[in-house]
Amino acid sequence: MKSKSKVKKALIPAAGLGTRFLPATKTVPKELLPIVDTPTIQYIVQEVVDSGIETVVLITGKGKAAIEDHFDLYSELEEKLESEGKTDLLDKLREASNMIRAVSIRQRNPRGLGHAVLCAKEVIGDEPFVILLGDDLVDSDVPCTKQMIDVYEKHEKSVVALMEVEDEDVPKFGIGSGEKIADRVYSLNQMVEKPSLEEAPSNLAFVGRYILNPEIFEILEKTDPGKGGEIQLTDAMAQLMKTQGFLGYKFEGQRYDAGDKFGFIQANIAYAMKRPDIAPRLKEYMKMLVAS
Ligand code: UTP
Repeated sequence: MKSKSKVKKALIPAAGLGTRFLPATKTVPKELLPIVDTPTIQYIVQEVVDSGIETVVLITGKGKAAIEDHFDLYSELEEKLESEGKTDLLDKLREASNMIRAVSIRQRNPRGLGHAVLCAKEVIGDEPFVILLGDDLVDSDVPCTKQMIDVYEKHEKSVVALMEVEDEDVPKFGIGSGEKIADRVYSLNQMVEKPSLEEAPSNLAFVGRYILNPEIFEILEKTDPGKGGEIQLTDAMAQLMKTQGFLGYKFEGQRYDAGDKFGFIQANIAYAMKRPDIAPRLKEYMKMLVAS
């Protein structure tokens, strides 16, 4: 086991094909689809920043260059808005480019989440790191990543975020089970990717936040394609669990799968309801819909 070291880097895999969201994702990365007026991935980068992490590694791929542009400067538009005195819009425009300096790596062939993570081996190096999936939103008072860092620093073991799901949803997730060792914290002893309900060891599903020790890379290098012919991160995590132990953490907050049509609509309504410029009209509209 490595000596204690801090989580300083965040990895955001965003190279997936987004087939659940076709045709929108034919040319537009799903990670840029807006929740109200802000791309999903910008909320995720905000969570990273709010958790005290300064280095973000984006995994992008074919057709995903707009993600890199989104976090870059846009001088021509800035100059135009500045000369027109549109300071509110200018602030909005600069929000993303001021957030963070992102490093990006291309996954040339999207062979699965495990493969996307492996692409960052050299940039991450020999230290623990957090992964935030580019289409998984968590709305919480304390950022989910910060909650997980606290668990990692206390126990010094890799951690995956857990959420209880309905039986019918079990086959859509990685599922884990183990012994509860503290409030919200489980020491996992089983992990399986997208099991049938009969195979599933519990209803505790992995959602898109992980803190992993760097030994995961050696394991990923030897991990064969699993479910769906993809190199599965869960398969490598199960190996790491055997040698180092692995924790599951039931985070506090509400998670939205913005890469799924229904989850995307839910997230839009929930985030719009928190916006004073939109909430009153939206409430009225929903009341009207229900009444009719
Ligand atoms: P998903 O399984 O949700 O992504 O992966 P997908 O393959 O794009 O989705 P569908 O099922 O076809 O609609 C979760 C995250 O991992 C990234 C995705 O971009 C997403 O943010 N990912 C997935 C990669 O970066 N590379 C991959 O090879 C697969």
